Amino acid sequence: MFPEDLLRAARTVAENAYAPYSKFTVGAAIMADDGRIFTGCNVENVSFGLTVCAERIALFKAVSEGVRHFTALALCAPESVTPCGACRQVLAEFCEPNLPIALTTGADDTIQMTTLGALFPSPFDTDAL
Ligand code: THU
Repeated sequence: MFPEDLLRAARTVAENAYAPYSKFTVGAAIMADDGRIFTGCNVENVSFGLTVCAERIALFKAVSEGVRHFTALALCAPESVTPCGACRQVLAEFCEPNLPIALTTGADDTIQMTTLGALFPSPFDTDAL
């Protein structure tokens, strides 16, 4: 069973999204292996390329608090969307391919389930670095 509080956290934090340009408000909530929840929303900028996605903000908040192991991710957007390619690579740095990802909208209780590995089977990685 996917944690209901993680879904709720993603829906709630989407309300904080700063998205005056796209109007596309996104909330992400990632659960640490100790059960703690870290949330993030998208934060846009008038220099569009400086925008940071909700997923990366949630993950970076967790990592900056010393957390590096995760058990689930919930994403809430106006329509059911999957994490962008950049966020998939960043998630792959810290999360296993079997990470469950729930995709939802704020509007109803419909959730779509996937995994990081299904979305991003071949992340960049190397032993050379
Ligand atoms: N966005 C996210 O926050 N996460 C994603 O996975 C895809 C896109 C944001 C970035 C931008 O603020 C808005 O959605 C439209 O692209």
